[in-house]
Amino acid sequence: MSTYDIAIRGGQVATSFGVTRCDIGIKDGRIAAIAESITDAAQVIDAGGLLVLPGGVDSHCHIEETSRGGYTMSDGEPQITVNEESFVTASTSAFAGGTTSVVCFIPQWKGFGVWERYVDARKRGETGMLDFAFHQIISDPTDVVMKQEVPKLVAEGVRSLKVFLTYEPLHLGDAEYIKVLLAAREHGCLVTVHCENFDAIGWRTRALLDAGMTAPKYHAWSRPRVVEREATHRAIALAELVDQPIQVFHVSCEDAAEEIARAQARGVKVWGETCPQYVTLTAADMDRAGFEGAKFMCSPAPRDTAEHARIWEMIRRGTLDIVSSDHCGFSYEGDKGKGSAGRDASFEKIPNGIPGLAARLPIIFSEGVSKGRISIEKFVELTSTNPARLMGLYPKKGAIQPGADADLVLWDPAKKVTITNALMQHAIDYTPYEGLEVTGWPISTIRRGEVVMRDGKVQAEPGTGRFLPRGPYDMVKPRGITPDGFGA
Ligand code: URP
Ligand code: ZN
Ligand code: ZN
Repeated sequence: MSTYDIAIRGGQVATSFGVTRCDIGIKDGRIAAIAESITDAAQVIDAGGLLVLPGGVDSHCHIEETSRGGYTMSDGEPQITVNEESFVTASTSAFAGGTTSVVCFIPQWKGFGVWERYVDARKRGETGMLDFAFHQIISDPTDVVMKQEVPKLVAEGVRSLKVFLTYEPLHLGDAEYIKVLLAAREHGCLVTVHCENFDAIGWRTRALLDAGMTAPKYHAWSRPRVVEREATHRAIALAELVDQPIQVFHVSCEDAAEEIARAQARGVKVWGETCPQYVTLTAADMDRAGFEGAKFMCSPAPRDTAEHARIWEMIRRGTLDIVSSDHCGFSYEGDKGKGSAGRDASFEKIPNGIPGLAARLPIIFSEGVSKGRISIEKFVELTSTNPARLMGLYPKKGAIQPGADADLVLWDPAKKVTITNALMQHAIDYTPYEGLEVTGWPISTIRRGEVVMRDGKVQAEPGTGRFLPRGPYDMVKPRGITPDGFGA
């Protein structure tokens, strides 16, 4: 009998600490050994000429989320709708792009609790092939939810809450946001925040619609940088007051990132995430002919190429230390064009969000490493190690070391590929990155010691994805009210 189930031989193993030529021995789904030469294995995978990376960890994905409302059924009850991307199709897409774990979302329907939604989301997650954890969206922070249900979720290993400072009907006002921060602090959760000013966007949107400016491109006009900067500042200031760690989601511009940098310099516990769309797409994409602009519509809105360079600078400085996809399953022929008033819909009726689960690693490698903007180590940190660390999944995920799950990607750093929707292998009928040329591509994806993708062919059994319960955050607890807020 062989010592190892699999030996990966001859690759350049890349972690956030460095790139080294060595072999990896896998046993029972875990990394069992890392050595100069490992031969005693039942199966040998040749990684010569390839990088061996830890599997991608995407800590911001919208998969199979349910919503209540929109359409009314014949008995008068609002219809329950499900996001077009299921856990099965999302798993295929993730493996195709080198991602092996995700943190996705449990919805909260306004007027309802969260426990039932967790039970439902957990069952849905277990139908897929990806390993998954959850953030709990809080859109209605009642006492029952925050004092009774959130502690139950924490006990299950759901240790982060997502709040929206904009979006009807999800957004929270400042008083509700503070309530969430306080509950998170008490129960040991991270709070993740969508930072845009709801009232400012509402005012801009009404003014644009009144002037007949309804096309997709006006989405960007309705939410300029300043609404993101203001909400980012406010989200951080209130978190600082309560002394509660937060992560600012999908930072699109330097203005908002500078707010994070200033707070980090003061020692505030704030992290910044950005996404591939903010280094590749621009507001001009939403001005494509006809209704095509809807394909690029997400919030915050993509900016311009000068902003891309500033986002890279913020990544290099470490202000933005995680790159997630913010993958959203709205097809062009489906929810984007038909969900409300169809192709004649004004921009505020088009669902926000774009698909990017499979494209995330290739885009960040190509735009980052291949174009000389970041090192391979930084790439691993941004796309795998840092999200695993912040989400409490490290070193089970995001690491190549003995004892870690054998989630690995064999990566060809020189392979040139033109992105097409077929390569994304998702359920969505388009990719906003169609035609983008990238250098660097995943050749094989291994999840817990099983080869789940080779040369673009995904082979994994639905129902094999595992829920990832997350351990407690090490947080300072309140010692009482001080003149400046909570704190020691
Ligand atoms: O436009 C976006 N980002 N849609 C997805 C939901 C969210 O805001 O994260
Ligand atoms: Zn958001
Ligand atoms: Zn999102």
